[in-house]
Amino acid sequence: MTDAVVSDLQILLDSRGIEATVERVAAEVSADHTDGVVLAGVLRGSVPFLADLARAMSIHVRIDFLAITPYSPGTGRVRLLKDLDIDITGRDVVIVEDIVDTGLTSEFLSAQLNRRNPRNLSVCTFVDRPARRVAPIEPDYVGIEIPEEFVIGYGLDYEGRYRNLPILATADPAVLKENPDAYIAALY
Ligand code: PRP
Repeated sequence: MTDAVVSDLQILLDSRGIEATVERVAAEVSADHTDGVVLAGVLRGSVPFLADLARAMSIHVRIDFLAITPYSPGTGRVRLLKDLDIDITGRDVVIVEDIVDTGLTSEFLSAQLNRRNPRNLSVCTFVDRPARRVAPIEPDYVGIEIPEEFVIGYGLDYEGRYRNLPILATADPAVLKENPDAYIAALY
């Protein structure tokens, strides 16, 4: 690992920053859902955030997961690969994302879940990157808003790597394209 590669990384949130951010978001979600809430995590990136968020909340929480197919660049078509197991009719539901980027995932899932008549449906994301938004989605709860830069860690991956980093960091996508493992030696 060269110093040049390491210097490509910029830590946006260290583990203490993540903890403080999660505690703030958990307090916001808890205050708005005093009767309890279903946290609907979007696989796979939301898992670290959802796990910490659920434990930081001061209300009754049920946890469930959704998964969708990636957007195909040509058609934009997506479909549910894994649906919720919980019946959300009449319940307060929060979709939990690691990142809202184009907003297409949140838009699609919000439309799907709203058809089931939840009492309330909102979107909570650890990272919000509004510069790349395509769909008119404004997340209700946001951990950190970032400009148009590539980030890894705390659920966010590059080709499946780096999700378990306990930090959120920017990385150089050109370096990763050249070598997806480029930052592993520096970060683990
Ligand atoms: C990522 C992320 C969000 C989605 C956000 O998922 O986890 O679910 O993209 O992007 P959008 O706002 O542009 O729709 P990805 O398909 O990469 O799957 P992953 O969670 O398994 O990494």
